Amino acid sequence: VSLRRLLNERAATALARRGFRGGTGGSPTIIRGVRLGIIGCGYVTLDRHLQALRHVPEIEVVAVADAAPERAAEAAQRAGARAVDVDALLGDGAVEAIAVCTPPATHAELAVAALDAGKHLFLEKPLAPSLEEADRIVERAARSSRQVLVGLNFRRHRLVERARDVVREGRLGRIQAVRSAFTNPVLDEEIAWKTQRPLAGGALVDRAVHHFDLWRFVLGEEIAEVFALTRSERGDDQSTLVTARTTAGTPLTTLALDDSVVTHDLTVYGSEAAVVSDLCRFEGFDVAPRTELPGSPTARLRRARDAVRRPGESLRAVRGGGDFRLSYVEQWRHFARAVRGEVAASPTLADGRAALEVALAAARSADSGAAVRLR
Ligand SMILES: NC(=O)c1ccc[n+]([C@@H]2O[C@H](COP(=O)([O-])OP(=O)(O)OC[C@H]3O[C@@H](n4cnc5c(N)ncnc54)[C@H](O)[C@@H]3O)[C@@H](O)[C@H]2O)c1
Repeated sequence: VSLRRLLNERAATALARRGFRGGTGGSPTIIRGVRLGIIGCGYVTLDRHLQALRHVPEIEVVAVADAAPERAAEAAQRAGARAVDVDALLGDGAVEAIAVCTPPATHAELAVAALDAGKHLFLEKPLAPSLEEADRIVERAARSSRQVLVGLNFRRHRLVERARDVVREGRLGRIQAVRSAFTNPVLDEEIAWKTQRPLAGGALVDRAVHHFDLWRFVLGEEIAEVFALTRSERGDDQSTLVTARTTAGTPLTTLALDDSVVTHDLTVYGSEAAVVSDLCRFEGFDVAPRTELPGSPTARLRRARDAVRRPGESLRAVRGGGDFRLSYVEQWRHFARAVRGEVAASPTLADGRAALEVALAAARSADSGAAVRLR
């Protein structure tokens, strides 16, 4: 703990030198990290957030809570924080911000309680299993001055940000379509909610929701209509294919699988070029011109050059455990800046709600066999 504190203080000094100040007055007080409490110490907290937060001196995890005390104890030990119960965490005046990292069916109650307690809020996706519950959070947040950030971390992925810039700069010509895939080996039958759609589990609601958000983020368009096919085997919606159309008419598709290999990619096709982002590879970015064969020497050379031209980014990606993991680091950095009043938190609750709306419409489509119109 003392080593961690020493490292935190050194990082704070470095930040202060770069003009990152804490305190309310104009005096140059050296900031401490944002004091964060985490509720929910399961997979995402242990495997993703605590690892990412090690690279984020702007945030200090001070307390953790879980309905299962042994989970809280494990997270507390890893984070060098106190293990407390949820009520104690909510009532702790030293805690400035709360991360709600519990199953989706508990989000509305805990998110509202965190805002009632005057805390800034980090809320994991999906917002909730229903739009009614999501709206309870949205309505409470609208009456709060606190920052709220939804854990749709892939918006903070370096290669997604680059893809979005390429699209927005018009380099692809007319946008023709988007195709993406999010497949992974996870299928945890021992944890009931993870395989049950009514609890927001399964590839369609729990996972594909990330890509419904990426569609909106990269294109800057809203989703008008959605159609889905799913197959449920060991878990609900284990194999899912979703197609959709934006209000501008752009066709979109996402494949989401549990219990398979790891793929996580996004391609935007235009009339002049396509932008490809493979989120698990630091060299997974390419803007391919219309007439070029992907295996041609020119294409290979361009891809290799792009990777070595950005040695700083590549080195960071390797040290941070890969680009995939760095998106969590960037997300937490952004959250700290939002809490300190330097930026507005994003992705917002409105983004989280929009992605959930697509997921729930896709689920209705999978049940009915018909397309569902959203707007
Ligand atoms: N952004 C991402 O990449 C990502 C990855 C995985 C999970 N998630 C999201 O994070 C959330 C949690 O997922 P997980 O995989 O960690 O789930 P999990 O089931 O592994 O862990 C959830 C933890 O919350 C605890 N808990 C349940 N109800 C509680 C309550 N009322 N109060 C306090 N603790 C409670 C459980 O005991 C458990 O330890 C979900 O919303 C999930 O979709 C996000």
